[in-house]
Amino acid sequence: MKANELRRKFIDWFVKNYNHKEIPGASLIPENDPTVLFTTAGMHPLVPFLLGEKHPAGTRLVDVQRCIRTGDIDSVGDRTHLTFFEMLGNWSLGDYFKNEAIEMSFLFLTSPQSEGGLGIPMERLSVSCFAGDNDAPRDEEAASIWESHGFKKHVDGEALSGGEIYFYSKKENWWGPAGQTGPCGPDTEIYYITEKEKCPNCDKNGISCDCHKCVEIWNNVFMQYNKNEDGSFVELAQKNVDTGMGLERTLFILNGFHSNYDSELFLPITSELRLLGGYELSEENIRNERICADHLRTSTFILGDELGIPPSNTDQGYILRRLIRRAICAGMKLGIENDFCRKIAGIVVKEYGTVYPTLLDKQEFIFAEMAGEEEKFRRTLVKGLDVLKKAILKNAGKEGGKVSEVFGVDFVFDMFQTFGFPVEMTIEELKNAGYAESEAEVEALKADFERDFCKHQELSRAGAEQKFAGGLADHSEVVTRYHTATHLLHKALRMVLGDHVQQRGSNLTAERLRFDFSHPSPMTPEQIAEVEKIVNDQIEKALPVSCMEMSVDEAKSLGAIGLFENKYGNSVKVYKVGDDDNWFSMEICGG
Ligand code: SER
Repeated sequence: MKANELRRKFIDWFVKNYNHKEIPGASLIPENDPTVLFTTAGMHPLVPFLLGEKHPAGTRLVDVQRCIRTGDIDSVGDRTHLTFFEMLGNWSLGDYFKNEAIEMSFLFLTSPQSEGGLGIPMERLSVSCFAGDNDAPRDEEAASIWESHGFKKHVDGEALSGGEIYFYSKKENWWGPAGQTGPCGPDTEIYYITEKEKCPNCDKNGISCDCHKCVEIWNNVFMQYNKNEDGSFVELAQKNVDTGMGLERTLFILNGFHSNYDSELFLPITSELRLLGGYELSEENIRNERICADHLRTSTFILGDELGIPPSNTDQGYILRRLIRRAICAGMKLGIENDFCRKIAGIVVKEYGTVYPTLLDKQEFIFAEMAGEEEKFRRTLVKGLDVLKKAILKNAGKEGGKVSEVFGVDFVFDMFQTFGFPVEMTIEELKNAGYAESEAEVEALKADFERDFCKHQELSRAGAEQKFAGGLADHSEVVTRYHTATHLLHKALRMVLGDHVQQRGSNLTAERLRFDFSHPSPMTPEQIAEVEKIVNDQIEKALPVSCMEMSVDEAKSLGAIGLFENKYGNSVKVYKVGDDDNWFSMEICGG
């Protein structure tokens, strides 16, 4: 089965059999949600609706959401972990709950392909449910629904037989909240058993064992709690279902492949890498090949997003830069020495362009940024090698000594900080120059380095957390005000600069609002002052804010501004600032 067919089958299953409405996936770079750098799950763009706001498309939705998760970046290279993936999701916003959700999933997985299902034999599937703790009870309800479909509770010590129910703690079987507070709940996860032979840890760990013989393919979250600021969990008035099925993983298990990288989504990329590098297919080379393929695919999607950004030293741009640079280092280990990021991006754009046409619209930008970043990084690497050579010359005569004693950990760390040299590379160069270091000593040096590096990362993470402390979920009132202010600003900019001004994105924290818009030249100080005055005057008036639902045509005829793209079908929400007959701003807005 190909990715296109799987995407289509999933959507059709829920639209045709269970009356869901298909909605488009959101941008990878979240708008108006300062709690995350990237969309990490299908639920992020839907948080307002999980909290009770009415969704214009109704209470049963289905979508394909592009997601980025860098938390597991060190696991990339194994058979299942990716930094970018597509998540197939069905949603109940206060509509159906556990019974229907489990039945819908079970039938999709096991019904014959001729009837629209995936035709997976039940003995290949096992599931997990929440074991219960002080915050919420053991999810016997979900388990008994699985039992009604023929599953049996796992008996400790028995082999992985398939058709079983396991119970795990919060770490495994709980999802959310997205920020510090918000909707969350127990989940039930569906695993595909690729091999029944156990590893030594399988008895203890069951289907979630990190040998990954069992691959988690689908998560059904029952969002029935709200986590409050005091840490307590309170039952939500609206009970939701949020499910996420991994497209890449499901594709590989359905086709009987060994890993994500064996499907048509990755094969053109890895074939090109093999052509460029001409390397042997050793275990280490395969790992580096996968890192290159994964990171460059993710980078292409970040650059080619509708809100795509270039590499930089902050926020999303920093993650993008690290991904590209990690890919270049992995590529060097494969013997790929020149301009390859742009080539791989070209393959990603070609393979995904029909599904995600924005990649085609933005291909020039993607290619230029990929090539620019690679060139910049390679120049830094050349400078780094020069510094390394000088350090070697300076220490001439000490050959045979140990790297850690002659050069020291600080030197190795500095090579990374200043020149982006991975620790292994520095040590390898020094060993080539005749310095001795046993494997054990190299490992010790690496551990020292990792410790320093983690400290450094923790600092930047603490910085980022502080920056994003004003999360949407936690300071909602301030953020709501700033959101209204973006509507005032949008209107004022059009009054001062002209009607060509269009919103291009916005980002809010409790400390500030950011608003991106289109205008061909920088604003003059006078224009800025005029816009400020208009916005402040309107705030002074304490105008009422109201929201209406109407058709796109009606909104246009009333003179509303905003994006008229048919985002959620024909019905849109229109926010008005001002009185009925004397309003200041009227704007279409999904947020
Ligand atoms: N939010 C859940 C997850 O990301 C299900 O979609 O796994």
